[in-house]
Amino acid sequence: MKVLLAGSGGREHALAWKISQSPKVTRLVCAPGHAGIAQVAECVAVKADDIDGLVALATGFDFVVVGPEQPLALGLVDKLQDKNIRVFGPNQAAAQLESSKAFAKDFCRRYSIPTADYGVSEDLESALEFLETMTAPYVVKADGLAAGKGVVIAETRDTAEAELGEYFSGKFGKASQRVVIEEFMTGQEISFFAISDGKNALPLIGAQDHKRAYNGDKGPNTGGMGAYSPVPGFGELERDCVMSRIIQPTMDGMARDGHPFVGVLFAGLMMTSGGPKVIEYNVRFGDPECQVLMRRLDSDLMDILLAAEAGELSSCEPPTWSKDPVVNVVLATRGYPGSYEKGSIIRGLAAASNMGNVEIFHAGTSKNASGEIIAAGGRVLNVTTSGKTLGEAVDLAYSVIDNNIDWPEGFSRRDIGCHAL
Ligand code: AMP
Ligand code: GLY
Repeated sequence: MKVLLAGSGGREHALAWKISQSPKVTRLVCAPGHAGIAQVAECVAVKADDIDGLVALATGFDFVVVGPEQPLALGLVDKLQDKNIRVFGPNQAAAQLESSKAFAKDFCRRYSIPTADYGVSEDLESALEFLETMTAPYVVKADGLAAGKGVVIAETRDTAEAELGEYFSGKFGKASQRVVIEEFMTGQEISFFAISDGKNALPLIGAQDHKRAYNGDKGPNTGGMGAYSPVPGFGELERDCVMSRIIQPTMDGMARDGHPFVGVLFAGLMMTSGGPKVIEYNVRFGDPECQVLMRRLDSDLMDILLAAEAGELSSCEPPTWSKDPVVNVVLATRGYPGSYEKGSIIRGLAAASNMGNVEIFHAGTSKNASGEIIAAGGRVLNVTTSGKTLGEAVDLAYSVIDNNIDWPEGFSRRDIGCHAL
């Protein structure tokens, strides 16, 4: 089977690594991919948001897997299905669960899916009015996609009002023309994943991300600086509760609204004292959570993706997972998530990758004219390790970073996994 994968992050490297191990796959092409993905797939220079380019490329492939959210929000799945090309991922209507926070909140309210109380405003005046009904801290969110940067937690009313002013003056362009203001929730955050065929939902597992840039959960929000799984305290009981209160009602509601959800649903959850509540929905695997999931998944990923696309998830064997904890520490270019330089040389990767229990998934890398691996983005590498305990996996990851990878221009958080250790 010939498979096309769209995307070029750490998530897509982990997906490519896992898909390439499937005996069903005879050829794997990634668009556009990067220097790391090139080790397990052919890379073609078509960008993941070039919808027409991807549709043209996909002709002749048996199956397409879409990694990031942009092509889903832009309707890539709809266009591929029009051409009778099989694809794993939600269509544009179903992708609204991520591409519009107002859509997701209204959907939760309609189907009594637990989430924070909220209001949606389309202009500054009504937003300020709604703010008066809330108490600090204030949670302000841009409605549309903002690369993980569209959420502000304001400690004071003044800051919240100033942020709202910026949002409506176009801080995130069209994405912040509409704003969601919501109740502040407290509890442990979990990234939970489930696959759906539009009707049936198959639970995957949970992981914990570290969104802030610096140690101790300080600094600006990022796409994610590291993740681990399993998460202590999130066991079968909690998983079943999330499936019955959140995931299955989401799938039922989407089907009832006429846009059944086919793909992987990533529910960002707050485990509050009143039970799990939705912080946000994403309609794709998390990055860096996916890297950890793929390392723990023992089953053939292709079996699950194909069954979901075919509407046959109910006859799919539940996936099996390694018991050993897995951690993923992100190495980013100094300056990220602000401005940073590209092009610095990274050494030592080949030897590090050959160590036991270590997989290095690239995020933003490319090669220079001499064939050396160079940094080409903000998040650059994912050092993904396993161990008999989480502590063992974490020690191994930092040992690889300190002793094997030679990249002075990079940095990582030093406390990934700290909430569980
Ligand atoms: P989001 O992009 O919606 O996941 O928000 C980014 C981060 O902001 C989340 O991972 C939470 O840490 C935080 N956050 C978002 N909404 C809330 C909320 N209602 N209460 C508390 N924290 C929140
Ligand atoms: N790691 C969070 C995300 O992928 O959105």
